[in-house]
Amino acid sequence: PATARFGPGGHAEVGGVDLLEVAGRFGTPAYVMDEADVRLRCRAYRAALPRAEVAYAAKAFWCRAMASWIRYEGLALDVCSAGELAVARAAGFPPDRIIFHGNAKTPADLRAAVEQRVGRIVIDDLAEINRLTALVPVGMRQKVLVRVIPDIEAGAHAAIRTGGEDHKFGLSIAAGGAREAVNRILHQARLELVGLHCHLGSQITAIGPYEQCARVLVDQLARIRDAHGVTLPQLDLGGGHAIAYTNGQAGLAPSRLGALAATVERHCAGIGLPAPRLTVEPGRAVAGPAGVTLYRVITVKKGLRRTYVAVDGGMSDNPRPAMYGSRYEMRMIGRATHEGTRDFTVVGHHCESGDTLAEAAALPADIRPGDVLAVAATGAYNHSMASTYNMTGRPPVVAVSRGKARLVVRREGLDDLMRRDVGL
Ligand code: LLP
Repeated sequence: PATARFGPGGHAEVGGVDLLEVAGRFGTPAYVMDEADVRLRCRAYRAALPRAEVAYAAKAFWCRAMASWIRYEGLALDVCSAGELAVARAAGFPPDRIIFHGNAKTPADLRAAVEQRVGRIVIDDLAEINRLTALVPVGMRQKVLVRVIPDIEAGAHAAIRTGGEDHKFGLSIAAGGAREAVNRILHQARLELVGLHCHLGSQITAIGPYEQCARVLVDQLARIRDAHGVTLPQLDLGGGHAIAYTNGQAGLAPSRLGALAATVERHCAGIGLPAPRLTVEPGRAVAGPAGVTLYRVITVKKGLRRTYVAVDGGMSDNPRPAMYGSRYEMRMIGRATHEGTRDFTVVGHHCESGDTLAEAAALPADIRPGDVLAVAATGAYNHSMASTYNMTGRPPVVAVSRGKARLVVRREGLDDLMRRDVGL
């Protein structure tokens, strides 16, 4: 699943950099991101969908270094907050290549999006139309997409499914919200409706739900043409492409998305509609496999039913096992061992029994305090979802590239955490 290479004697490297050295130099826990791997994934998307727009979903992993990699690979960008937008702008990301999302954009979000001149804003609610219009200066037209609910259930876990009717995202076709939004926007001189958007959910392994969704949306484009005489030029099919977290698991390779573009073209041709420009919004599939997290073992404790390996991180740097029951592949690195492997439960150092990083992790039987664990495929939704639970500072991000490691996000120290506490 990962970018890491494991050799004999516990040797492990990413991007030509020895992981044990990274742990020594930058401390643990630490997130390691392989720049070349991120860039290769960007290129794989562009090669698979040469006529489409590939917008990286910043929420998966975001910092200025990542923004510059995405920028130089020619991708567009999906942001969902003024904060993500600020990082993009700080890295010089061109605003016209940015799409702004969100089901409850705050006044500050909308203001930032308009002031920074983002290319498109995705309308997620009827009330947003007037709010946005009021912010657009006279003489300017803000391009918008409407997020519609395709009513398709797909995705790995209930918490990351967003395509069905019963979700907070988007406007319902069945209940008429989508139709009403299109009507209202077409009557607003300061807004320019350029297309429709949807996002089915995350960690979707098959192309079928996307094809089904594309047909539903193309039918809506045809309806809009028939009702209003306008042909919308864009169709954004969101992200959610699965990656392999553990050995043997299947992801949804970018190369398989070529079929999606073909489906859209065929369906459009069938109903006499010019094919819209497609957008896809992968987050996890760009960042996930490029990341490795390093931990150091603090204790190995034998319980009645199992042995716990406790490390110096946990649910604050990777909440995904606790939130979604996600599974990860772990390796002990840094020393040769002749002991066989055993199943261990790898836990964090937080004050909760749900703070488990992996059940039944195969690790050397002689694992001991001080050993370093490398966890693969942690590039997406780990750093971006990290918390400071138990007043724990968030780990640094170390970028590796061509045999060199460099700090791109520093470790959060106690002084950072204390600084926010301003009063007695
Ligand atoms: N586009 C939109 C509008 C989205 O809401 C999302 C993710 C994406 C694209 C990118 O989805 P991806 O390709 O990364 O699956 N925290 C969860 C994932 C939440 C995803 C939210 N939206 C997790 O750790 O699995």
